[in-house]
Amino acid sequence: MLSPSTFLSISIFLLLFSFELSNAVSTTKIGQGYRLISIEESPHGGLIGLLQVKQKTYTYGPDIPYLQLFVKHETQDRLRVHITDADKKRWEVPYNLLAREQPPPLKKSLGKSKGELFTASEYSGNELIFSYTSDPFSFSVRRKSNGQTLFNTSSDESDPYGNLVFKDQYLEISTKLPSSAAIYGLGENTQPNGIRLQPNDPYTIYTTDISAINLNMDLYGSHPVYMDLRNEGGEANAHGVLLLNSNGMDVFYRGSSLTYKVIGGVFDFYFFGGPTPLAVVDQYTAFVGRPAPMPYWALGFHQCRWGYHNVSEIEGVVEGYKKAKIPLDVMWTDDDHMDGAKDFTLDPINFPREKLQAFVSKIHSRGMKYIVLIDPGIATNSTYGTFIRGMANDVFIKYEGKPYLAQVWPGPVYFPDYLNPKTVSWWTDEIRRFRELVPVDGLWIDMNEVSNFCTGLCELPKDHPCPTGKGDPWVCCLDCKNITKTRWDEPPYKINASGTHVPLGYKTIATSAVHYNGVLEYDAHSLYGFSQAIATHNALQGLIGKRPFVLSRSTFVGSGAYAAHWTGDNQGTWLNLKYSISTMLNFGIFGMPMVGSDICGFYPQPTEELCNRWIELGAFYPFSRDHANFASPRQELYVWDSVAKSARNALGMRYKLLPYLYTLNYEAHISGAPIARPIFFSFPNLTEAYGLSTQFLLGSSVMVSPVLTMGATSVKALFPPGTWYNLFDMTKTVVSKQGHYLSLNAPLHEINVHVYQNMILPMQRGGMTSQEARMTPFTLVVTFPSGATNGEAKGKVFVDDDERLDMKMEDGQSTYVEFYASLTNKMVKVWSQVEEGKFALNKGLEIEKVIVLGLEGNGVGLQIEVDGFPLKDTSATFIENTPSHVEKLEGNNQKRGMMVVIGGLELSLGKNFAMSWKMGIKG
Ligand code: GLC
Repeated sequence: MLSPSTFLSISIFLLLFSFELSNAVSTTKIGQGYRLISIEESPHGGLIGLLQVKQKTYTYGPDIPYLQLFVKHETQDRLRVHITDADKKRWEVPYNLLAREQPPPLKKSLGKSKGELFTASEYSGNELIFSYTSDPFSFSVRRKSNGQTLFNTSSDESDPYGNLVFKDQYLEISTKLPSSAAIYGLGENTQPNGIRLQPNDPYTIYTTDISAINLNMDLYGSHPVYMDLRNEGGEANAHGVLLLNSNGMDVFYRGSSLTYKVIGGVFDFYFFGGPTPLAVVDQYTAFVGRPAPMPYWALGFHQCRWGYHNVSEIEGVVEGYKKAKIPLDVMWTDDDHMDGAKDFTLDPINFPREKLQAFVSKIHSRGMKYIVLIDPGIATNSTYGTFIRGMANDVFIKYEGKPYLAQVWPGPVYFPDYLNPKTVSWWTDEIRRFRELVPVDGLWIDMNEVSNFCTGLCELPKDHPCPTGKGDPWVCCLDCKNITKTRWDEPPYKINASGTHVPLGYKTIATSAVHYNGVLEYDAHSLYGFSQAIATHNALQGLIGKRPFVLSRSTFVGSGAYAAHWTGDNQGTWLNLKYSISTMLNFGIFGMPMVGSDICGFYPQPTEELCNRWIELGAFYPFSRDHANFASPRQELYVWDSVAKSARNALGMRYKLLPYLYTLNYEAHISGAPIARPIFFSFPNLTEAYGLSTQFLLGSSVMVSPVLTMGATSVKALFPPGTWYNLFDMTKTVVSKQGHYLSLNAPLHEINVHVYQNMILPMQRGGMTSQEARMTPFTLVVTFPSGATNGEAKGKVFVDDDERLDMKMEDGQSTYVEFYASLTNKMVKVWSQVEEGKFALNKGLEIEKVIVLGLEGNGVGLQIEVDGFPLKDTSATFIENTPSHVEKLEGNNQKRGMMVVIGGLELSLGKNFAMSWKMGIKG
């Protein structure tokens, strides 16, 4: 985090700079390419080839003369293309961090001349076909089912990009793209124009402490993966491409082509055949790791602030929420509870152990949780236990044999090296010790790009104190000199990290610093947050024996298996409100579905109106947390009466939807399916939705259409064809014929959330905590197309105790129920199929209400049968039958649906049920 004062000015500089860069896309051709001199089938499957450079060039260093090519269809829909130096092992993302198949050992180029060629020029998998040209070498990936070329590295004179280049510190490869390709991903990046990538915007991938307010910059995370969605001839197909490489890179997307310029490592491409967006994320997360299951409470609302001065303040906040009747599950502290910003310590005056413990016990007894922040920088303070034990175990990143000195909030620090197994044990032990002090329920790992307030090689100053004690901990107070002597600090090709005018090691660890086993920071830089998340997740899991919750700012390919993410430091502005949607949706594609932005903005304070709108949107982020900077006035949701009202409304709905969100969390864990998704995930053929970034879906069928502009009391929203029911007032219906933008009312306290037709949505009554909400009876909302005479609807719910480590279906540990409904000639049937009902039965979970929407007929005197018996019309049972009001209707000849509410039920969730009735004749 940058100081509030410098936050804006630097951002403006970076913004201007990025604009300049976008106009200066490099088109210079660097190398002469390679020729394929042999290719053969490997005994372990796949093809192994040898490439020889055609002519040596020296820009950015000499070409590597021989390369080994390894190609394998690893699964039915995943193809790997791996290219590395044939003679020398190179840096790759460590196989112990991201488990995957090792490519075959290097065969070495020695003695090889023109050898055998795998005679077929194509190598075919189930859906993807790899083919190549030999001289110059290029490859392409084609889809078997429709012949579409997905990736093609061939280049000719007229192309704005060059040949395959492979030097020690510069790798380049390009692919052609058809004009129909809509591209998503390549982050972390705040995208002012929405989720669909824009030609000629710069995409630099390198983890950096650059805040989310900076547009088109390399932000906190590194995700060199994209999804390509093409609609050709009315048929949409999606595929994914991952370049698994942790070195810094620029990706130039020009619309008709895409070029990677990478400063190290290898080309390790993975192609995921899709063909639907959901299938791409499924195949991607099957490879990089399925999203970590979240505990139920993590889906509740979270309150945080940098600048809660003592225990009484946080007690006050919890009471504030209670009094205002706004749900709250988790209370957080930033570094305020620490003694001098030192991890794992408590401020003895303001956060004394006993008082904090009493606070934690109290909120625990209400079913709430407590989470604290930790930063990677360990204060170099000789009386500080964590530091002393760290030194004794030799856990820090080194420079010329000594721990590398940096500065973060506590002043001078060393950074733990999570690539070192000893560091991981030490870290686990520190967490254990801290949890004995305060039984925190989760950990927030911040500043892990890693952020350093100084640059270069630094020493403790001899002539002034450090920290200066002037209340400016973010100003570098060490004595530092720039390191320019190595090619790791000053690589020949400069990626656009933080703007090209700064060195690669700017405000982070010097890139010539060294990790365990001699690994260079140059190579491992972007893995810092990932390796810390793994260590923290595993530590918590081992210590508490429950599903851990870790929130990480810096992320890499695969981080989703260990941590949730928030989008970092944003601003309390309308634009930032809007940007949050694209970043959230991107992280769903990156396999990190538990994501959200600082609600109401980190800094500066939002207006009251903006905070109203932000909680309305934020209530539907998968990770929903209000967080602010100490320099902002307080912005808890109860501070303004109007915001409190919007919060009760929007969070009230979130808490009713928790069973749906938790089921999405389950689906994310078993199939990678994002919790929050772009509209095109459910409507891939609707090209109007390809760039849509002002609305999104929760799961397949709940659409959120927030207000994102000041003063607006209506919202223009795209409605894909079909019937959509307003979740806040189910009699309000939108019927869209072709997928049009419609204008809907959106007064200050209301957000438009609609559920699509053919769905059975599980809801509960809600509550002030998720623990309370999850024990309340269920309501099933069944949606047929408005006025339909025939139709089908489906839904599901997953429930478990939320504490066990995984979400496996085991007897007694969880229950999974599928719901079905059918409508045939006015005959309505709703039934369930239960898998492993014991858990739900033991918990006494019941369905109290079934609401069916969109029916035709008047439903007067309905005879409802449940499990073969007529439903008795007791005082507890009620049947409502309301005509729905069609808000927006395209065309005149559509029928208005009825809403039938059957209440007072006591159906066991854990037992199959079946109910049916015949709708009355219209009269
Ligand atoms: C970083 C984080 C922010 C946090 C602050 C102080 O800026 O992004 O969320 O409040 O550090 O710890």
